[in-house]
Amino acid sequence: MKIVMLGAPGAGKGTQAKMLAAKYRIPHISTGDIFRANIKEGTELGRKAKEYMDQGQLVPDSLTLDLIMDRFSKPDCANGYVLDGFPRTIPQAEALTAALKAKGEKVDFAINVDVPDENIINRMSGRRCCLKCGGTFHVKYNPPKTEGICDFCDAELVIRDDDKPEIVKKRLVAYHDQTQPLIDYYEKEGALRNVDGTVDVEVVFDSIVKILEA
Ligand code: AP5
Repeated sequence: MKIVMLGAPGAGKGTQAKMLAAKYRIPHISTGDIFRANIKEGTELGRKAKEYMDQGQLVPDSLTLDLIMDRFSKPDCANGYVLDGFPRTIPQAEALTAALKAKGEKVDFAINVDVPDENIINRMSGRRCCLKCGGTFHVKYNPPKTEGICDFCDAELVIRDDDKPEIVKKRLVAYHDQTQPLIDYYEKEGALRNVDGTVDVEVVFDSIVKILEA
C-alpha cells in the first residue's frame, strides 16, 4: 500500500503517518525528518536544506528528488510506505507518478488531513519534537508521559527552529502556493480522500483506517 499524506504544516500528517506505519508495518518516510537528521549530522545536504527551512521555504526539488528516489529503492519499501511531506510540489508529484508508473505501480491513497490555518499556529506553538527518533508530541493535545522526554527513546524533546510563529506563517504561504495544488492533482488521479483533521488524534486515525480498509 502506497500512501501520500497531504495537508498544511502542523495538520497532523506526521502524527497519523507514524500510526499508519505501525499498524500496517510499512515504513514512514518523512522528507522533513530526513533533512533534520542531515542538519543534526552536519552533512552538506543538511547545510543546504537548513538555509531554506529556516526561512519557511521549500527545499529545491533538485535536492529533494534524488534523496527520496534513493530511499524508495531500499528493501523495506517493497510492500509500500507512508509518505509524509513528499510530494510537496507538482514537479515532485509528477516525478513520483513517473517513477511508480515505470514499475507498473501507483499511489493508492492520498489522504488530505484538513485543518484550517487558524488552528495551525496554536498547534505549532505547543509541538515538542524528538530529533533522535522523530517522535512528535503536543503539550496539551498529545503530551509525552514525562514532560520534556520522548516516550519512545527517552531523548530530550525540543521546539523545532521552524515552529516560531513568524516562520509558521511563511510555511503556510509556501503550502498554499506550492503544495495545495496537489489536492487537485490527486483528485484527478482518483487517489484523493479528505479527512477532518480538527478532531482528536484517535478519531482522525479511525477515519483514515476506515478509508484504507473500505
Ligand atoms: P516537514 O517536517 O514535512 O513539516 P510540515 O509539512 O511543515 O509538517 P509538520 O511536520 O510541521 O506538521 P505535521 O502535519 O506533520 O503535523 P504533526 O503531526 O507534527 O517539513 C519541514 C520543512 O522541510 C519544510 O518547511 C521544507 O522547508 C522542508 N521540506 C520537507 N519536505 C520537503 C519536500 N518534499 N520538498 C521541499 N521541501 C521540503 O502535528 C503538529 C502538532 O499538532 C503536534 O504537536 C501534534 O502532537 C499535534 N496534533 C496532531 N494531530 C492533532 C489533532 N488531531 N488534534 C490536536 N493536536 C494534534
